[in-house]
Amino acid sequence: MDYEERITAAELGEGEYRQEVTLRPQTLADYIGQKTATDNLKVFIEAAKLRNEPLDHVLFYGPPGLGKTTLAGIIANEMGVDIRITSGPAIERAGDLAAILTNLNENDVLFIDEIHRLNRSVEEVLYSAMEDFALDIIIGKGPSARSIRLDIARFTLIGATTRAGSLSAPLRDRFGVNGKFEMYTKDELAQIIQRTAGLLGVQTDPRSVEEMARRSRGTPRIANRLLKRVRDFSQVKGSGSIDLDITREALEALGVDDMGLENLDREILRVIIDRFDGGPVGIDTIAASIGEERVTIEDVYEPYLIQAGFLHRTQKGRVVSRRAYQHLGLDYDEEEQISISISD
Ligand code: ADE
Repeated sequence: MDYEERITAAELGEGEYRQEVTLRPQTLADYIGQKTATDNLKVFIEAAKLRNEPLDHVLFYGPPGLGKTTLAGIIANEMGVDIRITSGPAIERAGDLAAILTNLNENDVLFIDEIHRLNRSVEEVLYSAMEDFALDIIIGKGPSARSIRLDIARFTLIGATTRAGSLSAPLRDRFGVNGKFEMYTKDELAQIIQRTAGLLGVQTDPRSVEEMARRSRGTPRIANRLLKRVRDFSQVKGSGSIDLDITREALEALGVDDMGLENLDREILRVIIDRFDGGPVGIDTIAASIGEERVTIEDVYEPYLIQAGFLHRTQKGRVVSRRAYQHLGLDYDEEEQISISISD
């Protein structure tokens, strides 16, 4: 199955944005989790408002689906300004970015998702915009070309990326605030599922909420999506309210296992076990073996496999843990694993 089609894919599918927007929390008080980031932001927002200035530029980084766009929307809301949402690949030319920037009002938020995918010429326009709230525009060509400086409104750039390491140093250095997004705990996911169930008007029992939370791979977007699919099953095959039986039936039918893993997660683990004796093996070799892009494995699949303790990243490559063998119902031969790692 294609990554986009997976039930637990953390990327937004087509048509999901509008519904997500209405389910999204609008205020910091409603936002669950990411406490370190939100506690600090509360202070910075308050201070910026006191000074009647835009908030300093903010960089959010971490795996997909953890609420970066949601939090950007909340920041704009708490600041009482408008937000313009775009993404790195959507801004093709420097002129596209100039058009967006010249349309912003004082203190507005510009949110650029996947900011690591901006092309060079576009990125260079951002430098002076972020630092001096100005655009340097070249008029004419050849020897008579000259540059004029155009002032723009003072704004806040919120950049989001799954890989902070891919940002160029000049861009990274221009952000005054850095927010690292962590995977959510089971408790936090349960609170999010409960909140969403309330908004959708669907009854849940605590054990079914816990079951969905456990299988959500630490990701609210997945939690909300599982809830919606379980709700479908309960309406068609059950009583309409969500209990443990219908939750398990639905998740099994969706191919989401006890720990939230799906086919491709299991395939990654199995390839390392079957073809490379459990590792260590390089990420490029894994990518070639399963026919996925290296970045997709690194950004989308690995964070949860690592966090759940199924996979370790070592200097020599990826290694599957004893826990993964157990989860897949395979024997783990400790002596063999030790002799492999010694002989490497
Ligand atoms: N829905 C999605 N993410 C959320 C979060 N972090 N808090 C509350 N509701 C959410």
